[in-house]
Amino acid sequence: MPLRHLLSHNKQWAASMERDKPGFFTGLSQQQHPRYMWVGCSDSRVPANQITGLEPGEVFVHRNVANVVVHSDLNALSTIQYAVDMLKVEHVIVCGHYGCGGVHAALENVRIGLADNWIRHIQDVRDMHAQRLLALPKEERLNVLCEINVIHGVLNVAQSTVMQDAWARGQVVTVHGWIYGVHDGVLHDLLMSLHSTDEVLPAYKAAIDAVFDAKENLNSSAAIGLSPAAK
Ligand code: CO
Repeated sequence: MPLRHLLSHNKQWAASMERDKPGFFTGLSQQQHPRYMWVGCSDSRVPANQITGLEPGEVFVHRNVANVVVHSDLNALSTIQYAVDMLKVEHVIVCGHYGCGGVHAALENVRIGLADNWIRHIQDVRDMHAQRLLALPKEERLNVLCEINVIHGVLNVAQSTVMQDAWARGQVVTVHGWIYGVHDGVLHDLLMSLHSTDEVLPAYKAAIDAVFDAKENLNSSAAIGLSPAAK
């Protein structure tokens, strides 16, 4: 049986969990109380539980190609609604990752198949910020688009009826934007954490500016350092 190693690994894992925490699975079988919801990329290198050190029962997860959140995606909206309204999670984390294949395809107009229609949303984001994106060195554009795709995901979660209604009734729940380095295993906070409707648009503008400002300042000081006059 080709998948025997997975099933035998599972047996060992279940036994060791039960050994370390007797009653772990019995407790979880009654109900789940996750404090976190994760909206991430399907990429096999970005497993929500492992990179955050969370156990079964601690994070409610939705993943899709390139961690896109759009207003009409009933799959994402349904999971977010269940997490916020029923499970009462305290944090919704939209997490992207550097070097994302879906974002790369969007940036470079690479045809990959059916998903072209899905990542068209990222091309809309790319085109919305085309002026500042094209002003950056070519090698920096992918990671910057990965970051602003997360920021747009946070914006769209925050503007969903789910979050708008939750905040209107005074529920304490924060939406965050993070990005993960598959090359070093480190998570970075994109500093767009939203606790209320009023914060959404100013925080969105500030987060987009912060991403571009960081790169633009870096590039202008590098240009000064390299100019013959500075030597
Ligand atoms: Co990805």
